[in-house]
Order: sequence, then structure tokens, then C-alpha cells
Amino acid sequence: MSSGLAGEVPTAGVVTATPRPARPRVDQGVDHRLLASIDARRQAFVDRVLARPGVVVLLGGIDSGKTTLARLLLSVALAHGHEPVLVDLDLGQSTVGPPTTVGLRHLRSSEDLADPFVPDELYFVGSTSPRAHLLPLLAGTARLLQEARRRATLIVVDTSGLVAGTVGQVLKFHKLELARPRHVAGLQRGAELEPLLGVARRFTSAEVTALPVHPAVVATGAQQRAEHRRERLARYFSAPLHRYQVCPLGFMPPLPRGLDHSLLQGLLVGVNDRSGSCLGVGVLEHGVDALRLVTPASGAPSGLRLGSTRVDVDWRATGTDLRTLFRGG
Ligand SMILES: Nc1ncnc2c1ncn2[C@@H]1O[C@H](COP(=O)(O)OP(=O)(O)O)[C@@H](O)[C@H]1O
Ligand SMILES: [Mg+2]
Repeated sequence: MSSGLAGEVPTAGVVTATPRPARPRVDQGVDHRLLASIDARRQAFVDRVLARPGVVVLLGGIDSGKTTLARLLLSVALAHGHEPVLVDLDLGQSTVGPPTTVGLRHLRSSEDLADPFVPDELYFVGSTSPRAHLLPLLAGTARLLQEARRRATLIVVDTSGLVAGTVGQVLKFHKLELARPRHVAGLQRGAELEPLLGVARRFTSAEVTALPVHPAVVATGAQQRAEHRRERLARYFSAPLHRYQVCPLGFMPPLPRGLDHSLLQGLLVGVNDRSGSCLGVGVLEHGVDALRLVTPASGAPSGLRLGSTRVDVDWRATGTDLRTLFRGG
């Protein structure tokens, strides 16, 4: 087997659109902190992906090292001359775009990988947690994967930490259905992911690799994760903002007749154009005269998708149930 991290050019089954450098060195263009995260099993996994590039799905619980492994893989791929795509399906601890969205970033250099926040494609799901938003999450997953396939051969899909229980398993199964991956890696403590990896083995033709969570992984607390979401939302809305007066007929789902619009204050919305593309995320403001949309998204908004996330003036997000809201509470 060729050894991508050991600096040899992979040969078997390689399909790339771009010529690759003759002999990339092990550390060339790969961040030293990422290099420190490699062990023999991760190295072998990265080698297998580089030998057969395709869609790679990374699975694991919270703080299992999915995003770090995604970055390692993408970094080595870039050093080998690929221009890979990162599909970020984590709604809360997102890498591409703000929380409440899934996003796609086409990486052309290690600088792109150092800060992949600005998306090439975005899809508004409306919540920082997948549990009650499986439909928009899977619709967004399908849309991003279609765009990813148009752009690149090597596609790395980073996912949320919801893997446990029936909901986690059903969600991940449907993500695998859409991704039709060539490689699946499951990062696990003990054998916690075996049921899900069994599903991947039985229902997909992917090469499935179980990896133990790295001992150097540092667990984040709920507070730290909430702060990460707040920072990301604050960063997203720090770009120049546009303000629009909102037509109450422009929402999906449609607003119930007679709804008190002050209940919409602070709700995040997806800003769509008529082609169905998500132009970005906005926040609703209820002023004395009218309902307004505040958004950094440029382009002509045609419709607004309501989610179930409200932000305060410091960009702290809390969940809210649309059905309760529509009943007037
Ligand atoms: N292989 C590794 N070696 C050292 N530290 C790691 C490794 N994988 C993850 N970490 C650290 O553990 C924490 C959680 O990792 P992360 O990749 O964000 O997990 P996840 O995406 O699964 O939530 C981060 O601080 C990261 O730097
Ligand atoms: Mg992550």
C-alpha cells in the first residue's frame, strides 16, 4: 500500500483531475498540530483514502476527533495536489458557515483549510441540534453532496455527534444513503459505534474503518460548546449587514393568520432566492412599524425559512418550538 503520510505518491486506483506533485514530503503543507494527531491507524486510513479517493464519511460521538481527522485528511490531500471538498454537517460545532446551517467549502490551499468558515454553499436547517430537524438536515445533505460531487473527487463529510439511540442511527443511516461513501471511519470509545459501523458494513459498499478515540482528545463542556456557537454567530453577523422590510407572506412554513409578529423577534431565518439556493442566514427584528430582516447575505431574498432558534443581542442561541410559537406562546 502506498503511504501518503510517509511521502510516497499513491498509485493504485487514483482518480484526480489535477496533476499532483512528484513526491510530496510528509510534512509539506501539513500543519504540525495535525501531524501530532497521527498514529499508525490514522495514517493507514489516510493512505487508503488517498489510494482510492471518493466520498469519506466520518462518524463518532461528541469530541471523538472527527473534525481533527477531517482536517488531517484534507491537509494531506491538499499536499498531494487534490482540491478536496469539506461538507460540514455539524449544526452546532460547525466549521463551515454559522451554527444552524450545513455548509460546503471547496479547498484549494492550506490557507483555505486554516479558516474554512466562509462557505461556497450553505443550507439553513434552523437548529443547532439535529434531533427535531431531520427533514431539512437531510434535504441540505443531499443538496450539498450533489454540489460536492460536481466540484471534486475527494469529498470529506464531517458529521454531528448524534450517533446514539435509534434517532442517531436512523439519521446516520440516511446520511450514508445520500453520501454513498467509498470510505467510512468511526471514531469510538470502546465498541460504542459497532452497531452503526455494522449498518455501514451491511448497507453500503464503503471500506469501513473503526478507530479508537485518540488518548490526547480533550472533552469540551456544554458551556464551551455554547460559547463556540455564540462566537460563530457573532462572526457571521459581523460582516456588513443589509436590512429589508419583510412581507409576512414570504415565509416557509407560512405564518398563521393573525400571528403577533413580535413573537418573531430574534428568530434566525434562512434567506433563499428563487432557485432554492440559500443566500445566507438572517435574523428577524420586530420594530414599531414593521418586521425586518437583518442579514449579511447579498442577493435578492425571495423567501425566508423559519427555523427554531432565537438569538439575543450577544448572539446567544436558544431553541424555540415553532408549533408553540404559532399557537401564540
Ligand atoms: N488525534 C488527536 N490527537 C490530539 N488531539 C486530538 C486528536 N483528535 C482530536 N483532538 C482534540 O480533541 C478535541 C476534540 O476534537 P474534535 O476533532 O473537535 O472532535 P469532534 O469533531 O469529534 O467533536 C479538540 O481539542 C482536538 O484538538
Ligand atoms: Mg467536530
